[in-house]
Amino acid sequence: MTRYKREDPELTRRKFINVALGASAAVGTVSLLSTLGGANPVFRLTPKKAPPMPGDVLVHAAGEKAGQPVTEADLSDQVTRAWPMGKDATGAPVIRDGDPTSILAIFKFPEGELKAPTNLDATVNGQIVAYGDRCTHAGCNVDNGTAPSGKSIMNCPCHSGQYEPREGCKVIGGPPPAPLPQLPVKIEGGQLVATGFFLTRPFGYPSDEEWQHYTEKVKELLS
Ligand code: FES
Repeated sequence: MTRYKREDPELTRRKFINVALGASAAVGTVSLLSTLGGANPVFRLTPKKAPPMPGDVLVHAAGEKAGQPVTEADLSDQVTRAWPMGKDATGAPVIRDGDPTSILAIFKFPEGELKAPTNLDATVNGQIVAYGDRCTHAGCNVDNGTAPSGKSIMNCPCHSGQYEPREGCKVIGGPPPAPLPQLPVKIEGGQLVATGFFLTRPFGYPSDEEWQHYTEKVKELLS
């Protein structure tokens, strides 16, 4: 099992949100340093720590192809792990591997296997799907597993949580309180690219409201 444990105390909750974010997109690079309110947790975000965002290219997290863009040919019904890669404030490429919440699990299933509650509009041809790979229970990285039927599923090694990647990574066993968050993706220039933020709150954000607030703020900056 591969663990991507890169905990950073700066990502824990504090009194203010202090975002230092060099975000890249087609519109260019934006930097932000702002205080968003005492009622919110603090996430000190740098380009390396920012969650996946629209326009990020997904690159292999491990193996011979580590750092190279993920292509359709690399994918199967077994998990392929990837980091999002954006740009820093100077426009230089930066792999966002500074926060374990950003690690992704990507699959390609035969036509017709992906079903609701997977958001099929956020997949490539209803076959390629990406999820956050950090368990919604206590944040461990989730790995390949096998159901009694022999079908591939996702298993969390920490407390035996199980997810069904063909059905929106819904919880099918163990204590996780919520599905793994789906990341909308497309193929562009032969590479897998994020088209938005996680569709639901990833581990580490204390509420849906906080996650929504964060994504809205970044969208404002990119618009
Ligand atoms: S951290 Fe995954 S089941 Fe507990």
